[in-house]
Amino acid sequence: MKTCLLFLLIALPGLAQVRVIDLTCEHRTNPIGLDEPTPRFSWKLTGPGRNISQSAYQIDVATSPKVAGSGLVWSSGKVTSDASVLQDYAGPALQPGQRYYWRVKVWDATGKEGAWSDPAYWETGLLTPANWRATWIEPEADSAVKRYGPAAALRKEFQVKGKVASARVYVTSHGLYELHLNGKKVGDDVLTPGWTVFPKRLQYQVYDVTAQLKPGANALGALLGEGWFRGTIGFDNNWAFYGKKIGLLCQLHVTYADGTDEWLVSDGSWKTSKDGPIRMNDIYNGETYDARREQMSWDMSGYNDNKWTAVKTAVYPNTNLIASESVPVQKIETIKPVRIFRTPGGTVVADMGQNMVGWMRLTVSGPANTTVTLRHGEVLDKKGNFYIGNLRAAKVTLTYTLKGSNANAPETYEPCFTFMGFRYVAIDGFPGMAEGKLPTADNLTGVVVHSAMTPTGSFACSNPLVNQLQHNILWGQKGNFVDVPTDCPQRDERLGWTGDAQVFCRTAAYNMDVASFFTKWLRDVSADQRANGVVPFVIPNVIDLPTKPDSAVSGSAGWGDVAVVAPWTMYQVYGDKRLLAQQYPGMKAWVEYIHRKAGPDAIWKNGSVFGDWLFYHPQVNDHPAPDGYTNGDLIATAFYAYSTKLLQQAALALGKTDDAAMYQTLFGQIRTAFMQEYVTPSGRVASDSQTAYVLALMIGLVPDDLRPMAAKHLVDDIKSRKNHLSTGFLGTPYLCHVLSENGYTSVGYDLLLQESYPSWLYPVKMGATTIWERWDGQKPDSTFQDEGMNSFNHYAYGAIGDWMYRVAAGIEIGKPGYKHILIQPQLTERLTYAKSGYNSAYGDIQSGWERTGRTLTVRVKIPANTTATIRLPDADRSRVTESGKPIANVGDARNVRQEANRVVMDVGSGTYEFSYPLPGMKQ
Ligand code: BGC
Repeated sequence: MKTCLLFLLIALPGLAQVRVIDLTCEHRTNPIGLDEPTPRFSWKLTGPGRNISQSAYQIDVATSPKVAGSGLVWSSGKVTSDASVLQDYAGPALQPGQRYYWRVKVWDATGKEGAWSDPAYWETGLLTPANWRATWIEPEADSAVKRYGPAAALRKEFQVKGKVASARVYVTSHGLYELHLNGKKVGDDVLTPGWTVFPKRLQYQVYDVTAQLKPGANALGALLGEGWFRGTIGFDNNWAFYGKKIGLLCQLHVTYADGTDEWLVSDGSWKTSKDGPIRMNDIYNGETYDARREQMSWDMSGYNDNKWTAVKTAVYPNTNLIASESVPVQKIETIKPVRIFRTPGGTVVADMGQNMVGWMRLTVSGPANTTVTLRHGEVLDKKGNFYIGNLRAAKVTLTYTLKGSNANAPETYEPCFTFMGFRYVAIDGFPGMAEGKLPTADNLTGVVVHSAMTPTGSFACSNPLVNQLQHNILWGQKGNFVDVPTDCPQRDERLGWTGDAQVFCRTAAYNMDVASFFTKWLRDVSADQRANGVVPFVIPNVIDLPTKPDSAVSGSAGWGDVAVVAPWTMYQVYGDKRLLAQQYPGMKAWVEYIHRKAGPDAIWKNGSVFGDWLFYHPQVNDHPAPDGYTNGDLIATAFYAYSTKLLQQAALALGKTDDAAMYQTLFGQIRTAFMQEYVTPSGRVASDSQTAYVLALMIGLVPDDLRPMAAKHLVDDIKSRKNHLSTGFLGTPYLCHVLSENGYTSVGYDLLLQESYPSWLYPVKMGATTIWERWDGQKPDSTFQDEGMNSFNHYAYGAIGDWMYRVAAGIEIGKPGYKHILIQPQLTERLTYAKSGYNSAYGDIQSGWERTGRTLTVRVKIPANTTATIRLPDADRSRVTESGKPIANVGDARNVRQEANRVVMDVGSGTYEFSYPLPGMKQ
């Protein structure tokens, strides 16, 4: 066997080589329609054994898949560097609508040259708005615009005159569009063109439609819905925030095999009709579909469109048009009801088993004119009845009228211009229901919709409730990452609340690849940030009209700070320095905005609009202290300090040394002011609330010698509440971090593992499948919190996921982008194992520990081209083995040292398994 293997290795030397895999361009795999003039390339290395690293690389770019010969556009040449993430293209200016192929090869640590990777590609978009040839077309004149009207269809026939080599369609809309070509939807994306700060940034999508064209007559069709642009949005039953008229902009580029090309553009020759089946569509309120009105083949050539009317053409400056910057929203998975039943109140309800976001696909047969109605709710009430009180004004209703069908050929319907957040579906009018027959799982499918982010993280431990918590965090993310990071997906809100994104972005980045998702959204943050630096409450800002003067727009501590915290987090997680540089002016403007507000006192008065939002209130509380309230100015000043500190670090990372010095000084001033105003000589922090201690300790606003006392006060408060938290949106994310950083990891675990209210596991015990907006959305007696604000899918409190990954399992960033990794799990006697995996830009990182009796096993995986420092907890150097050998003999592990009760070592890539006896742990 051994000889055999040896032979193989000699015969196929390539096998033992370092290989290059997973090529991405601007964080995406083979993107089509990229308007980045200098895209960046990333790749991963893989190979056998340990300590794999790169000493040099070469990138070649060409217009043909061979990436060689005459089509070669650019070669980086051999670059001596260990960088394998986000390396710049530096060739000649890119051409619009061009596919570029690229490949990379690397030299390993010994200088050995590897093989070329398989080629990857990216394709440019139109690169500049000037390359738009199409005209905006609109289905209706001003006078015809009315709320809740039917969706419009638009169509155009055209001829394909020869053999097609390639065809691309570039398309966007005011409102939502669904594009069809020859009877088929184009692409897999939904809710296009997504949601951005439309007046400044409107995304267009690019699709390869080569295979969808046919010789001769072809037809393009488009459906237009209200969407974020014109539908109901924000509060107060607002609609048409961005404009009263919806429209389409579309151009098809056909390149023939003989090298000639042709454009088909939206213009006045297109026709439109509003007689189709979608009678009403609205994101908050749902869709009404009348199948009797289906116009068969409306999107195919030969359709008789005599009754259709000419579209109106319109002129808008196209300077806001940008190629899609994020991953698209798509139908990601489908789920089936786990139960269909009649509630005590008599409603027929399907339980999807999961609070999900998307919509239902209905499969039904029955007589024409029958109307089936689906209403959506998140929870059942105390009596087990269907409940929608917390949805406020959102109707979230699908209404489908059958055209008439029999069981052999049922009708299938799913909406396209709405989405809902729900677990329960109330069904009315389903054929046969009046006679007591209930629909079955064959009739109902839940279509889960969200931005198509690649999953990157996993966490599991020996406590099933915590595993359910992780599941809930993940589903909270899925449902609220629908092109924009929203607060909630169900009620009449669903807005890009900045505070929520601020607290959750790091956790989100563990669970899924959110690099392009946040790149796009942060550019919207910049677009909506006012000239005075204020960052509005929600992005895109649909709360303040663009005409509102800057001075009248409010920002809130902990919310506006997303402008600083999120770019810094993305830089840490993905090593994306360009994004940091692009966001830097906005980061600085936010800090300067506060600077002016706070003035020389350095205390930001009235800067906290939302406070420690939804902190623990005392109603259900037997705790003698009033509640978990934290003074607003303290919060505002703490976040002022925090953003200043991160800004200073960002300035350093970007080489802006003057700014770095200036903000270091400013941070010092705020710190001093904070300590004078809020910290007592015995280490008490004013308000004496958990959040006050958490913020002061996390940001470093307590004198070093008083830190232990402040931490003790925090712990005393937690203990006095019998291991319960009292924090809201701003204190919660850092609570356990502050505990574990100050020697109270076990208290952090006590909070994580607390099962009674208020805690993370209380909703889990109550059957939650997503994170709740409030600690007590549903109270122990099953009654609900204030229905004016009680979402059951709100990710903010899910920010504990960050601690689970970083501290419980122990995967921490050493150098931006995980170029250096820290593996430093912290144990608890209350779990027997905890483990997590994270697929970083360099590859898979794993860290996990498992206790068997008195023996601890720590399993670690470090990806190629990175290094790591491993800190083994509660370890004695002389008793640790790695892969069965005493640690001192491990050739790969470098500089093994004992630091207090931890054994620390520096390693290269590879998998490691450590084992050692634990001292004095309760078993
Ligand atoms: C949202 C929050 C948001 C908050 C600000 C709520 O309506 O749902 O998540 O951060 O308002 O106070």
